[in-house]
Parts: sequence; C-alpha cells; structure tokens
Amino acid sequence: MENNKPERQTIKIQLRPMTVNYNLAMEELRREYGKIVGVYEAAIREIDARLQTLNSEFSLKHQHNPIHHIESRVKSLGSIVKKLHDTGIPISIDNAKKNLHDIAGVRVVCRYVDDIYKIADLLMKQDDISVILQKDYIQNPKPNGYRSLHIVVDVPVYMSQGKLYIPVEIQIRTVAMDFWATLEHGIRYKATDEVPPSIVAELRACADVITETDYKMQNIFRVLQSVHDRDDIPPELIVDDRQ
Ligand code: GTP
Ligand code: MG
Repeated sequence: MENNKPERQTIKIQLRPMTVNYNLAMEELRREYGKIVGVYEAAIREIDARLQTLNSEFSLKHQHNPIHHIESRVKSLGSIVKKLHDTGIPISIDNAKKNLHDIAGVRVVCRYVDDIYKIADLLMKQDDISVILQKDYIQNPKPNGYRSLHIVVDVPVYMSQGKLYIPVEIQIRTVAMDFWATLEHGIRYKATDEVPPSIVAELRACADVITETDYKMQNIFRVLQSVHDRDDIPPELIVDDRQ
C-alpha cells in the first residue's frame, strides 16, 4: 500500500500539463478553424449557385428538373481532427487544408442516372473550375454496393485578399442511390462492432435491386421524354411514317 502512494502522485503530476497542453492545442485549433470556415462556406455557395443555374436552365429547356435536392456541409473540427489522426497526419488546420479535399462537401441528389452525368459534365466544363479528382462508383460500385459519382473541383472564391481556389468534394447520386447510402451509413454507424457478413451480403443484394429499379425508372423516363420532345416539334416537321 505504502509503495503505491508516490506512484499515484507522479501520474497526477504528469497528467496535468498534458491536459493543459491539450486544451491549449484545441483552443488554437478552434481559432484557426474559425478563420477558414467562411472561405469553405463561400466555396459551397459558389458551387450551389452554379448547380441551381444549371437546374433552372434545364427545367426551362426540357421541362425537367435534373436535381431533386442539394445538401452541403463544412466538415466539423471534430471530423477534421479524427480524419487527420486516422490517416496519421499531424493535427493542424494547415495540414487539413493541404491534405483533406472534403472540408467543403456538396451532395447533389438527382432524379435519374442520366441527370448525374449531365450535371457533372456541365459543371466540369466551366472554364474557371478545375477537376482535381473523379471517382465513378456508378460504373465501378464499391464491393458493398455503394454507388455515386464523386468529383473534387477547385472553385474560385473572391475574398477581400483576392481570388482563392478552394477544393469542394461533390457527390452526385440518384434519389435511389441516396436512399441506400443513407440507410447503409445509419446501419454501419449503429453497429457497435463490424457489420456481420450476412448483413453485408443483404445490403449488397438491396443495392443490386435498387440499381435495377434505377435503370428501369430511367428507361420509363427516357420513353416519356422522347414522346414529350416529339410533341414539342412543330407539326410540319414531324414525318408521319405510319403507313
Ligand atoms: P473518406 O475518408 O470517407 O472521405 O473516404 P475517401 O477519401 O477514400 O473517399 P471516398 O470517395 O471513398 O468516400 C468519400 C465519401 O463518400 C464518404 O465520406 C461518404 O460520405 C461517401 N461514401 C463512400 N463510401 C461509402 C459507403 O460505402 N457507404 C456510404 N453510405 N457512403 C459512402
Ligand atoms: Mg469524406
């Protein structure tokens, strides 16, 4: 018993400065994070405005809104710290800016698969935007069944100090892909341990059914759209080939 006492005291003395340093480091991180949030929010607004413009123009030209809805977020300080820690990068806001391309994130939920590629193409063609990364998890779904088109673009943002190019991660998916990804994320989050293989297989099977339905819905829409577009053509230009 007597031997334990001084040992406990030593631990106590060592912990105090660590706690103080930790708090100081967090305070510094929070201050630095506060300085960059506005720029990433501005980058999200920029992308959002461009997407809204494309959607409205599409709607006028084709009487169809490709975008169902848009979600966005700036990565929280907690998530930044966790991601840097998990990837073994020393934790600082400077390192986050250099190494993380998803501090600004935009999720574009489209109606049909065709809409995803149309929106992505039109956005990537804009001459002041540069594409940093593109991952097509629709053509190449993840083994668990996850599907979405991911692009990371640098978008110009005009701040008081001048023009800055800010990376934004854009995930583009259909309503059906979003349905699966949202529920799968919830299930994975809820599972205290690894998700059992039987559930992984079940989720993959659900993804396959959803994919099939997505393409069926796409085909129904294509047929209706072609009838609609045909109705838009002035009658004198329509060749009646029914004999
Ligand atoms: P993160 O470290 O998660 O950002 O992954 P990454 O940098 O390797 O990029 P990746 O393209 O794999 O994933 C980026 C984001 O896509 C994730 O943060 C999720 O929002 C989403 N995502 C990727 N894979 C899955 C998945 O299997 N299920 C779900 N629900 N979402 C996923
Ligand atoms: Mg991410």
